[in-house]
Amino acid sequence: MKPQSLAAGLMLAGLQMVSADHHHGALHFRHEQKPAVQEYDTTTTTTTSVLKVVTITTTITVSPDTAPTIVLAPIAEPTSSSLPTASIDSNTEAVASIANTQSSSTTSPSQGSKTNPLTPNGIKAGSAGGDAYPFWKDHIGWWYDWTPNPLKSYPDNTGHAIPISMLWGAGTVSHGDAVRYAEFQKLTAAPPYILGYEEPDCSPPDSSSISVQKGMKVWNEVVAPWGKKGSLLGSPSVCKQSDEDWLTPFQKGISTPWDFTAVHINTNNMGVVKKVLNHYWTKYNQKPIWVTEFACVDTSNGFKASENQTQINKFIADIVDLFQRDDRVYAYAYSAGRGLGSTWPPVKDEKLTESGRVYLDAIRKYA
Ligand SMILES: *[C@@H]1O[C@H](CO)[C@@H](O)[C@H](O)[C@H]1NC(C)=O
Repeated sequence: MKPQSLAAGLMLAGLQMVSADHHHGALHFRHEQKPAVQEYDTTTTTTTSVLKVVTITTTITVSPDTAPTIVLAPIAEPTSSSLPTASIDSNTEAVASIANTQSSSTTSPSQGSKTNPLTPNGIKAGSAGGDAYPFWKDHIGWWYDWTPNPLKSYPDNTGHAIPISMLWGAGTVSHGDAVRYAEFQKLTAAPPYILGYEEPDCSPPDSSSISVQKGMKVWNEVVAPWGKKGSLLGSPSVCKQSDEDWLTPFQKGISTPWDFTAVHINTNNMGVVKKVLNHYWTKYNQKPIWVTEFACVDTSNGFKASENQTQINKFIADIVDLFQRDDRVYAYAYSAGRGLGSTWPPVKDEKLTESGRVYLDAIRKYA
């Protein structure tokens, strides 16, 4: 899914989507390859793994070992403001705060603990998207907006919650993708966390469509160096949930493994939520899980965002409780991305919607 607030290239992509919508009705591009999800019986997994201890430096003058040439695809009308110029100074504070957290917790990392560095600020709840930040900020530990430097688009979203950097794609599927790729390469300080590609196994405009080969190369050259500098790395988040077939070959070809597995969950069924968590936990070495997007969606016949407020409210309450109770989940984020209907989005006309308020009520019980 894509940030709502990006300009230029994304608007171009948006126009394409509008015209396609016109043809096909309420079509959600990135999900066209997504198979239906079936309900599933689950078993509880008891977790006993020990986290690797990571040392994070507060040095802010580092740069990646490799700095591939930036090639922006020719585009119709690049706006001057869309090309980033500043470094990611805003993350300095976050790095320092993580380092502080670490120094007090590295001796006995405990799973799901409030001081575990893989739970940003010790608060699992987060936001995918920056619009709801002003309403949720006191109860979330982290947020992102699908870009390398979320504070660039949301300069007012300063505060306790950590802005998380993301490399959305390999820079080739749209102008917005190219801009974000270039901006990522301009990072000058190690972000405390980095999220990998957005749904490389599905199609643009809302997913990054990267071949496994290309994904491995970009990971090794562009992302992995930051892991060596202290960033905690999140895997690419694939779109096909537990039916995915992208991550396994990718995992085999990368030189630096990811530290936590990033997962998307779109469903209206808690059984499916558990099935997805079980899949990633079991298949990828019991690595800590971040649910970097979740939404209430009927996937029994394609992809249909729920418009039933009663159902959404119950879904939010249930899924937040489930994530909080499940020690495999270190972080989770309400998705405010596109294509999720008119009832799910947490903010409308700069006001919190009922769905946004229900999430706030659910997470404030925990932080
Ligand atoms: C909305 O969801 C609730 C709770 O799942 C359900 O009881 C109700 O029948 C649904 N309403 C409609 C119109 O589908």
